[in-house]
This record gives sequence, structure tokens and C-alpha cells, in this order.
Amino acid sequence: DQSTAMSRNPSQAATPRSVVGIGNKVAKPDYSEAKIVLAMVGLPARGKSYLSNKLMRYLKWLEYDVKVFNVGQLRRSRARQKALQGGQKEDHTAQYFSHNNAEATKLRDQLAEDSLEMLIQWLKQGGNVGIHDATNSTLSRRAKIEQRVAKEKGIVVIFLESVCDDPAVIAANVALKVSSGDPDYKDTSPEDARRDFLRRIKEYEAVYETITESHLSHLRIRNVGDQVTLSHIHGYLQSRIAFYLMNLHLKPRSIFFSRHGESQFNVEGKIGGDSPLSERGLKYARALPALITDNIGDAPLTVWTSTLQRTIQTAQYLPYNKLTWKSLDELDAGVCDGMTYEEIEQAYPEDFANRDQDKFNYRYRGGESYRDVVVRLEPVIMELERQENILIIGHQAILRCLYAYFHNLPHADLPYIKIPLHTVIKLTPKAYGCDEERYTLPIGAVDTHRPKPGAQTQQPALVGITREYYGEN
Ligand code: F6P
Repeated sequence: DQSTAMSRNPSQAATPRSVVGIGNKVAKPDYSEAKIVLAMVGLPARGKSYLSNKLMRYLKWLEYDVKVFNVGQLRRSRARQKALQGGQKEDHTAQYFSHNNAEATKLRDQLAEDSLEMLIQWLKQGGNVGIHDATNSTLSRRAKIEQRVAKEKGIVVIFLESVCDDPAVIAANVALKVSSGDPDYKDTSPEDARRDFLRRIKEYEAVYETITESHLSHLRIRNVGDQVTLSHIHGYLQSRIAFYLMNLHLKPRSIFFSRHGESQFNVEGKIGGDSPLSERGLKYARALPALITDNIGDAPLTVWTSTLQRTIQTAQYLPYNKLTWKSLDELDAGVCDGMTYEEIEQAYPEDFANRDQDKFNYRYRGGESYRDVVVRLEPVIMELERQENILIIGHQAILRCLYAYFHNLPHADLPYIKIPLHTVIKLTPKAYGCDEERYTLPIGAVDTHRPKPGAQTQQPALVGITREYYGEN
């Protein structure tokens, strides 16, 4: 029953307020008391937008309502509006960002204030974390933010300063700004864009004041991955944010996902259980090492499996360090464990229909929902962020949850993501998201994907490319 299932899952204690159950559909956790303004601080090209987007992806995956308020975007859209209304075209080259340009400085201060105002209104309408993505690089700008937020009961502000003195990272960020079709430079040659952007950075450097206001609740992150310092960070969500940032790094690496080889339960159409691999599943286990080593060469890699024998058997021939995680065990189907979908429909028709109607929220009697799985996978995500090359040999529901985090997919689509058997998915983190490649081994396997009945297009579009893998030669 509902209450037993909830109390048996200790990870639920991590949610700030109780989760209300309606039959087997479990409502979203109540995060309504979490209201944070996260104000970024830092020079241009210090990865503020990168951090904003990473944090947004992580917190949204945990079902917080998060929105980035980017002051640069507001500046451009206001300028566009003005031009459309017949006004003079604003010049947003480096000169606009000079502190000697009194008129532009006033305009920029106003933009930052307006965007903060929009953020606060959004929090009051139910948002949880509003990220103020701006430079906020002076004491006076930060004091204004602090004073404005202090007027709102129940809203707190944290400053997140991104300091970067690694020339390679700065150069990469500048190159990204110039080459990514940034709207500030859409009519400018790459060389002119680079020159102007470097001048803009110089203008900011002239007035930049690192956070010295010791009373402020703040985090300072140096060269993402090198050092994080915290000051006055209190509260559950604030600590999660700090912990997450402490685990991030920018080293190039890949994350591989594979389901276990086809299992005997897969062949019989049964869910859950702890059955061994089928003959074809064993063949996949034998073929997997060549695929991985051809791909990664002699770079170090660690293999994570669940505690279930089908993943451990699949990993058995891989010549890498291995770790088993209980948190990677397949979604617990409770009383339905070991049954086929047809048997479940017969025995529990109402539950079966509820699951089809709202698969993310449906919790199996005495088992778990997809949401429960996301909650228990949170430490796995933290560790994945900290690590370098990792291969996870997992299960259908588990890999769907992890995959949705990396591609920022909505929770309603998550339980229908296609993670076929005998396929390796390679994710390579990039500035804003992940590149993806899929390698399908030509070893037959059953299809365990059950589409949403009646739905036309429930499958999110595939990101990246798929190849058949026949070995190097
Ligand atoms: O069928 C294989 C399996 O891994 C089952 O053990 C598990 O219950 C199921 O997939 C999860 O997929 P779905 O949520 O689509 O039922």
C-alpha cells in the first residue's frame, strides 16, 4: 500500500515536504516553500551561462521549477523592440559596456533591475529558483539586489561568483561566444567579433569587484572543478546547489550507457526479477569489450553495474575496474515483479490503466514510480558529474532517468525513451548539453519497449547518430 511503500523508501526523506498519494498516482513533491534568487557574478567568458544551464538542468530533473533570467537576452530584445518602433539602432559594441559611458551604464543598470523584478514576480507566482544571469560585478549592483530581495518575505538570495584564471578556459569561452552564432555578433566577422568581445571584457575588468561582502550568502567557484568556497550557505536546497557545484569539472570525457544483455526474463516478457542472461545476452557480453576499447583506446574507464546478476554478467569480460551500485537496480515493480504486462493487466486492471495514463507518477503497489527512481539516482548523478569516463551497465527504467538528465527531457516523456537492448549509447558533454552516438551490435534481442497506448508521437526525437557496430576490422 501507499504508506508502506513510502516509508520503505528512505530516499523520500530527502524531499522537504510530504508527498501526497492519490491511489497509485503520486503527486509531485511540494516545493512551494523553496524560493531562491541565484545571482551570478563574474566577468564575461567565465562560464556563468554554462553554470546557470547546468544548475537548471539538475534542479529541473529533481522537479524544481527553475528559470534563467539572462540580462543579455533582455538587452537584445529591448533593442529590437526599439528598432521596430522606429527608434535609433542601439550600438552594443564594447563601447556600450564602458563605465565611462554614463548613458549606457544607466540603461544597463535598468536592464539588470528589470530582469530581477521579472524574476521576483516569477518566484511569487510559484517558481523555486530564479537564476539572474548577469555580471553583477560591482558592490553597488550586488547591494541593490540584496536590498530588493530583502523586501520579499520568504525569498532568499545567493550570489554565485565564477572566477576563471585559466587562459585555456577563457579562450574556449571566447571562441564559443564568437562561433556559436551569438546574436551580438551575427553581422560581424569572427575576427572583429573576437576583438570586440575581448574589449568588452576589458571594460568589465576595469570596474570588477570580487565578492568581499562577508555577510553575503555566496559561493565562489574557481576554474570549474578547482575550488569552491562557501559562505553563509544554509538550508536544504542551498546545500544541494553547493554540493552539485563542488562536483562539476570541465575535463573532456565520455559517459557510456548500455542495458544488460538480453535476459531470460526479457525473452519471456516478464518484468523485474533477477534472471541470468539468455544465450544472445551472453553473446552481447562477450562482444562488448571490443566495442568499448575500440572506442576509448587505452584511456581509463570505470564500469558501474547494478547488484542484479544480468548487469554483472554483462560486465564480466570488460577489462576495467568495476563497481556495483544498489541505486542502479531496476525500478521495483512491487507486487508485479516477475509478471508479464498481460498478467498485470489481468490481475490489476485499474493500476495498469493508471500507469498508462501517467507513467512517471505511477507507483507500483509495494514498489516504485519513475519519480522514486529519479530521487534514488540523485547520488549517482552527483558521482557521474565528479568522475571521468564511465560505462554504466544498467536497466531500461534506470537508463531512461539518467538519459533524461543529460538531455534535459521532460518528465512526462522520460518513461517512453527508447533504450534498446544490445546498444551502447555514448554521451559526450559539451558546453550546453551532450553529443550522442549510438552503437548497435548485430546480435538479436527482444524489444521490451512498450509504447503509450493511443499516443501518436510519444517518443522524443533521437539526439545524435546511430551506427551498427561490426568491430574495427
Ligand atoms: O522489461 C524490462 C524492464 O527492465 C523491467 O524489468 C522493468 O520493469 C521495465 O523494463 C521498465 O520499463 P517500463 O517502465 O516501460 O515498464
